[in-house]
Amino acid sequence: MRKIPFGYPIVDKKENESISKVLSGYIFAHGPNIRKFEENFAKFTKAPHAISVSSCTAGMHLIYFSLKIKKGDEVIVPSQTHVATAHAVELTGAKPIFVDSDENTGNIDVDKIEEKITKKTKAIAVVHFLGLPANVIRIKQIAKKHKLYLIEDCALSLGAKANKTHTGLIGDAGVFSFYPVKHITTGEGGMIITKNKNLAKRLRLIRGLGVDKSFNERKIPGVYDVPALGFNYRMNEFQAAIGIEQLKKLPKFLKIRKKNFNFLYKHLKKIKGLSVLPGQFKNLKGSHYCISIILNEKLKNKRKEIINSLSKKRIGTSIYYPQPVPRMKYYKRKYFYNKKNFLNCEKFSDNSIALPVGPHLKMSDCKYIFNQLSKIIGKIKI
Ligand SMILES: Cc1ncc(COP(=O)(O)O)c(C=O)c1O
Repeated sequence: MRKIPFGYPIVDKKENESISKVLSGYIFAHGPNIRKFEENFAKFTKAPHAISVSSCTAGMHLIYFSLKIKKGDEVIVPSQTHVATAHAVELTGAKPIFVDSDENTGNIDVDKIEEKITKKTKAIAVVHFLGLPANVIRIKQIAKKHKLYLIEDCALSLGAKANKTHTGLIGDAGVFSFYPVKHITTGEGGMIITKNKNLAKRLRLIRGLGVDKSFNERKIPGVYDVPALGFNYRMNEFQAAIGIEQLKKLPKFLKIRKKNFNFLYKHLKKIKGLSVLPGQFKNLKGSHYCISIILNEKLKNKRKEIINSLSKKRIGTSIYYPQPVPRMKYYKRKYFYNKKNFLNCEKFSDNSIALPVGPHLKMSDCKYIFNQLSKIIGKIKI
């Protein structure tokens, strides 16, 4: 029986060779691989500016810090997301204001955004949930009307587009993640994209400790000045070298993801007792990070049993996300949690199971997943 992990990075001798090259070249930071990876990423997404960072979380924190979002400010964030989306706001001292999800897509409920805007609101953060773009066109209108920044958490949306524009380019800035199970990996890592030249310049400055001359720009070695407070959120040359190779593979990865997703979407929908979150929605083209099934009222108490049975059949699963962020201990203690305001998120966290669709799956694996899940659910006595 073949093991089907939920996520699995695909690397081969190309990544191996690229790391060896960096090792033998003795330039481990501030080097040509970073510049090339940023250039290639900008080309792929059609972004005017791409700025590599050490993770998506670091990138989001860097953006808020660079936009001078601080204590006393508020940022509207979705609740059905990775804790990183909220932490990036919280780390600046600003307060994340949580909004429930849309029940059909899992993305932030656009109709609930405006009622949360106050005089303190400075930005709206969106997450493209499981790779399906949020309704960014409407959200952008709201942001514009209230003069707010729009920041896109694109951790799961590499390859996803809204009205033919790559996610990350609709708002003021967007950040991608290259954690091992993402669309491409650099081990850890992230990339910010933006259309705003001044913001890009500031992000580069603050990413590298506020130092005004990068290593290559220094006329006299060791001589630079520091006009701003900053972090060390840089990516290194090894990561960038892997990223360059991974990016070449991305179009093929995305094709396989789409094919696997579409097969599973079509068939899983036929199983009684569950619904399936879509990978496409009107003009929103998803990047198919995974496929999430939502168990109905009768089946939801059997989730653990279903996950264990799938695991016995060597099928990896996950849950996106394990709790609405405002229900997580840190946030609940600090801001109080009223379940009634997050009913859709509660459903996604407590009743869903995420299944793999990544390029490590063959079509026979997708058929196997469907057959096993049908059998497991068919046997459950309710
Ligand atoms: C929506 C979202 N944002 C941010 C992150 C964090 O990304 P990173 O590990 O690159 O900081 C994740 C990780 O899965 C995520 O799902």
